Amino acid sequence: MNTIGIGILGAGTVGGTLIRRLVGDHAAISAKTGLDLEVRRIAVREPGKARPFELPGDRIVADPWAVVDDDTVDLVVELMGGRDPAGDLVLAAVEAGKPVVTANKELIAARGPELIAAAERSGVPLLFEAAVGGGIPIIRPISETLAGEQIESVKGIVNGTTNFILTRMAEEGSGFAEALAEAQALGYAEADPTADVEGGDAAAKAAILASLAFGTWVGVDDVHREGIVDITPADMAFAAEFGYVIKLLAIAERLDTGVTARVHPAMIPNAHPLASIRGATNAIFVTGPSIDELLFAGPGAGGEPTATAVLGDVIDAAREHLAHAQVAPRIRFSPGDLIDFSTVSTKWYVRLEVEDRPGVLAQVAGAFGDAGVSIKSVWQEGRGDEATLLIITHRAVEAAQRAAVDAVAELAPVERVAAVIRVESDEP
Ligand SMILES: NC(=O)c1ccc[n+]([C@@H]2O[C@H](COP(=O)([O-])OP(=O)(O)OC[C@H]3O[C@@H](n4cnc5c(N)ncnc54)[C@H](OP(=O)(O)O)[C@@H]3O)[C@@H](O)[C@H]2O)c1
Repeated sequence: MNTIGIGILGAGTVGGTLIRRLVGDHAAISAKTGLDLEVRRIAVREPGKARPFELPGDRIVADPWAVVDDDTVDLVVELMGGRDPAGDLVLAAVEAGKPVVTANKELIAARGPELIAAAERSGVPLLFEAAVGGGIPIIRPISETLAGEQIESVKGIVNGTTNFILTRMAEEGSGFAEALAEAQALGYAEADPTADVEGGDAAAKAAILASLAFGTWVGVDDVHREGIVDITPADMAFAAEFGYVIKLLAIAERLDTGVTARVHPAMIPNAHPLASIRGATNAIFVTGPSIDELLFAGPGAGGEPTATAVLGDVIDAAREHLAHAQVAPRIRFSPGDLIDFSTVSTKWYVRLEVEDRPGVLAQVAGAFGDAGVSIKSVWQEGRGDEATLLIITHRAVEAAQRAAVDAVAELAPVERVAAVIRVESDEP
């Protein structure tokens, strides 16, 4: 029998589910793959805690190094999360010649090149399908199936919590705080939602997607990031009126000048495939000259779907280990130009509160024109003293858009710039 000893760091939402399935579905997995995947050692913070699986107690330890250093462990699965000590444990495992599977986007986005290089030196796989999109197969399609495609862009809804919140705001008219509280009550958002609502989680995923799509390493700090905390029901309603929906997008693009990655809320046309992705679902839209458009969608988180992605990697890595293959990394990274976000062309929706009197629109339009930004459409609603002025611009570089809005904010009749949201559509 092709037996592989597995060591698992972390037995929480994903690890606990994975172990339950490795034990409970052992015969079925073995029949389908020819592999005997045996869980030999597990590290958790609290070994005495109740777990969703039954294994002899002596296999559960509090010291994660006891898993990595265990001679009976052939393959390590890292599901504890965070950068430390997960990073050093993964590094030690690959340096010891043990294949590693992880779901840790934070770690891969922060230390990817170093860990991938270490795995290459040892000739072992380092797989992380579950790090982006939970149960959606996306890492393997981008880095292997599409290795021959000159991918042009990857645009995704990669954070289920924020998509749930934005869907609630769009469909129920809820405010941000109300929708967040609902997401927390339903278990979609953590007690501390910062990483989700401020875009940090999506930025780590954008960095990984950009790196794999373009073969140029993009670090998480290279990703321009804006969250959803400033999105209001008013902008949701205006977006709907103009045929758009607001989503938090992770965008990676290969332009003539180089590669760029960013995370920000964006208005997308109702007809765009990502516009119909509701609730906690994730979806990733990939374009290239030969494939045209591909859409990957499904459950972006949760113990069961994520454990399925991890299991696929475990089976893949176990096969290579048994074949005694000297494994080359799935993808090689070469230096490339990372473009500063201020030079990327985008379109902006700007909501202004202004004095309701003649000549204001001309002044605002003049400020945009002076900054080199041309206006695509304008909508104005007066209420006597005050008026709401909505402007959607044509494409212009970020720096020019920013300069235009800063200049508009200084105009005497402009009371405030109430909102700025980018518009993502194929139009110029
Ligand atoms: N949850 C998802 O839907 C999802 C989806 C995609 C990717 N991921 C990624 O998968 C990883 C795991 O997420 P999760 O939701 O399963 O996390 P989790 O429920 O918090 O579980 C973490 C596990 O690691 C253990 N642990 C943490 N620090 C430890 C340490 N220093 N020593 C020993 N054990 C330690 C914990 O022990 P105790 O149980 O004793 O506390 C727990 O069993 C993360 O990288 C996450 O980003 C999760």
